[in-house]
Amino acid sequence: MSPTVPAKIIPVARPSVGPQEEQAVCDVLRSGWVSQGPRVAEFEREFAKYVGATHAVAVSSCTTALHLALLAGGVKPGDEVICPSLSFIATANCIVHAGACPVFVDVDRSTYNVDPNCVERAITARTRAILTVHQVGLPSPLAEISEIASRHGLLVIEDAACAIGSQYQGRRVGLPHSSMACFSFHPRKILTTGEGGMVTTADEELANRIRGLRQHAMSVSDLARHSSSQVVIESYDEVGYNYRMTDLQAAMGLVQLKRLDEMLGRRRWLASRYSERLSRFEWLVPPMESSECRHNFQSYMARLESNAPITRDELMKELLNRGVSTRRGIMAIHRESPYRDEKWNGRLPQTDLVTDTTIVLPLFHTMTEEEQDYVIECLEQIS
Ligand SMILES: Cc1ncc(COP(=O)(O)O)c(C=O)c1O
Repeated sequence: MSPTVPAKIIPVARPSVGPQEEQAVCDVLRSGWVSQGPRVAEFEREFAKYVGATHAVAVSSCTTALHLALLAGGVKPGDEVICPSLSFIATANCIVHAGACPVFVDVDRSTYNVDPNCVERAITARTRAILTVHQVGLPSPLAEISEIASRHGLLVIEDAACAIGSQYQGRRVGLPHSSMACFSFHPRKILTTGEGGMVTTADEELANRIRGLRQHAMSVSDLARHSSSQVVIESYDEVGYNYRMTDLQAAMGLVQLKRLDEMLGRRRWLASRYSERLSRFEWLVPPMESSECRHNFQSYMARLESNAPITRDELMKELLNRGVSTRRGIMAIHRESPYRDEKWNGRLPQTDLVTDTTIVLPLFHTMTEEEQDYVIECLEQIS
């Protein structure tokens, strides 16, 4: 018998926000200080504590976090930065914002993370940094990448947009695995502030430079001037940006951070339930976890094998007809017009395969077992 189509579409993702977040935002509204201020400073301290970093600097998004990390790390016009093409386009855009050139490398088909052998082969005299991405929350091979980087004198930055709460070699992503890690708080991520980002680092000099650049390179912050009993005249010693997070966002982030372990636990439980039930489909490969890595399941991304009875796009359509929203897996940046170039032809075979054959299934904090069972029943019906 066909499963009954639900009255409402099962979304692919849904942020988990409730009365505590509402209260925290209202408290900030009533406080009289809504821009970057005391809540941002508190969110930074708590975030650093959570991931085990010495410094955390809050900004307006992960894209701006990555831009400032590259600038603070000394990436300059004309430099090359190695990164995967298999990523959200912001990974490459921030390299271009810094005036540098992204050099795309291929991924490992089983983890979807960069292949260290491809990274090593892509190094030239112009390479300045490696921007490694933790794909949909699974940490990339940081030990191998760091070893290659130190042999060649390169900077390593982690695009940890999706990786809050993920673990690498028993430690949370954020430190001390590389020079800087950048997180996103977009609503598709597990911890959300609406929009928002964070850079974590062990290096005080880098943290201070990013703190300056995010607020027009102002020598004294608005909050410090406002709190001073003296007249303070600030100076601007370089060209900076307005990449600030607001206290409204940080207040929400503080509540989300307290709820994070519980949210992660629920996601991991739902993900293991998917993987167990999907094992009966020979044509669908569930996401992998290795002994080195703990996934946060920011997304549950499966891959269709060549023996699949249907193409990925047809599967998405069939699921949507049955009230189940999905997304294609990770995009391939080299296929988008700003980055299209003959030089990538044939050089990114795993990226091409993965981007065409992966699908993100619904997974969110409040997803019920009945909703998940319905998704699986639909897959059974289609196959
Ligand atoms: C891998 C990756 N990097 C960067 C970003 C950009 O994050 P934000 O939207 O916070 O700028 C995203 C967002 O989806 C992402 O998935």
